[in-house]
Amino acid sequence: MKFSKRIQQVNLSMTLAIDAKAKEMKSQGENVIGFGAGEPDFNTPDRIKQAGIRAIEANDTHYTPVGGSNDLKDAIITKLKRDNGLDYERNQILASCGAKHSFYNLAQVLWEAGDEVIIPAPYWVSFPDMVVLAGAKPVIIETNATNEFKVTVDQIKNVLTPNTRAIVINTPSNPTGSAYEKSELEAIAEFALENNILVISDEIYEWIVFDGFKHTSLASLSKEAQKNCIVINGVSKSYAMTGWRIGYIAADAEIVKQVTKLQGQSTSNPCSISQAASIEALTGPHDDVMEMVREFEKRRDIMVSLLREISGVSCNTPKGSFYSFPDFSALYGKKDANGKALQGSLDFTEYLLAAKKIAIVPGIAFGADANARMSFATSRDKIEEGVKRIKEAVELLT
Ligand SMILES: Cc1ncc(COP(=O)(O)O)c(C=O)c1O
Repeated sequence: MKFSKRIQQVNLSMTLAIDAKAKEMKSQGENVIGFGAGEPDFNTPDRIKQAGIRAIEANDTHYTPVGGSNDLKDAIITKLKRDNGLDYERNQILASCGAKHSFYNLAQVLWEAGDEVIIPAPYWVSFPDMVVLAGAKPVIIETNATNEFKVTVDQIKNVLTPNTRAIVINTPSNPTGSAYEKSELEAIAEFALENNILVISDEIYEWIVFDGFKHTSLASLSKEAQKNCIVINGVSKSYAMTGWRIGYIAADAEIVKQVTKLQGQSTSNPCSISQAASIEALTGPHDDVMEMVREFEKRRDIMVSLLREISGVSCNTPKGSFYSFPDFSALYGKKDANGKALQGSLDFTEYLLAAKKIAIVPGIAFGADANARMSFATSRDKIEEGVKRIKEAVELLT
C-alpha cells in the first residue's frame, strides 16, 4: 500500500503511546499508576450534561451552520468579553471539533511549503506535526526552567527569517504549567506586529490557574494586537469536556471566512448536542470549575513538594494547567539493576514503568529531553503513592 509523503512525516503521539502501554499493563492486572492523563479526571458538571440531554430531547440534532450555531457564537462572544475584555462579532468566531481541530484548520488555511512557524519548546506534542502536515516548517526555540520555560523576544529575533509566518504561544502551558505575565505577552505582541508575523494564542487552560494568577489573553493587549492574534480556546479542559469535542477560534473575519470554507468541505459543524452543552458551560455559573481548580492546586502542591524531596530531581511550580514538568537529567548516566545506563527521558521513563510500574511521559515528546511530564489530574492518594515509588526507583539507581 502506498501512503502519502505527508502522513509518513507525521509522528505517532508519544503521550497516547505511553497511555496505551500503561493501560495494557493494567488490563493484565498490574498495579500501574499513570501520570499520563491529558484530561481532567472529573466528570462533566451536571448542569452541562443536563443541557446536552435537553438538546437531544428538543431534537437539537440537525446540522447547524458550519462554524457553530449563532447561540454558541454568542456564548463565546459573551465569554471573551467577560473573561478577557475582548469584543468580537459573530463573523470572527468559528467552533470546531475540539481545539486540536481548530489548530489543524488554521495550519491548513494559513501555511504551506516554504513557510516557517515558530514554536517554543517544550511544546504541546501536536503543534509541530500539524505544521508539518500543512507542508510548512516548525522552527523550534528551546526555553529553559530558569526562565520558567517562557520564550523571550531576543530568542524569537534569532530565528526570524523572511519566511516566518507565525509564532505559537500556549499559556498556561502543556506540558510545563508555566503561564506568561502580561508584560511578557506585551513584548511578544509588539515584536509580532513590528515584524508582520501572526500570533496563535492557545489559551485552552485559561481557567486552570493557581495562587490567584490572572490569565491575560494576548489579543486583549490592544486593538492592533487583537487583529494580529488568533485566539484558540475550547471547553475540553476547563469544563472537563474532552469527549464532547468543542474548540473555537476568535480571529479576523477574513481568516474565519477561509477556515469556514475548509471546515465546510471536511467535518462541517461540530456536534450540535455538544454545542448546546458548551453554551451552558461557557455562560452558566462557574462554581464547579472553581472547585475543580482548587483541587488541582492542592494536588499540584503535593506532587511538587514530594518530587523536590527526591535527590537529583528539580521541579518548577506550575502556575496553571494540570501538569508538572520535573527535571530528571541529573540522574541520566546512572545505571539500573541490569547495569544499563539511562541515557535520556525515554530510557528514564521506561525504567520507571519496568521497575515500579509508574507511567510518566518522556520530555523528549515535548522537545525537552531533561524533563518528563506528570499530570496531576489524578487522586491525591495516587500522587502520594506514585511519587513514593519514583523515589524508590531513583534510589535503586547506581
Ligand atoms: C495546549 C493544548 N491545546 C489544545 C489541546 C486540544 O484540546 P481539544 O481536546 O479541545 O482538542 C490540548 C489537549 O491536550 C492542549 O494541551
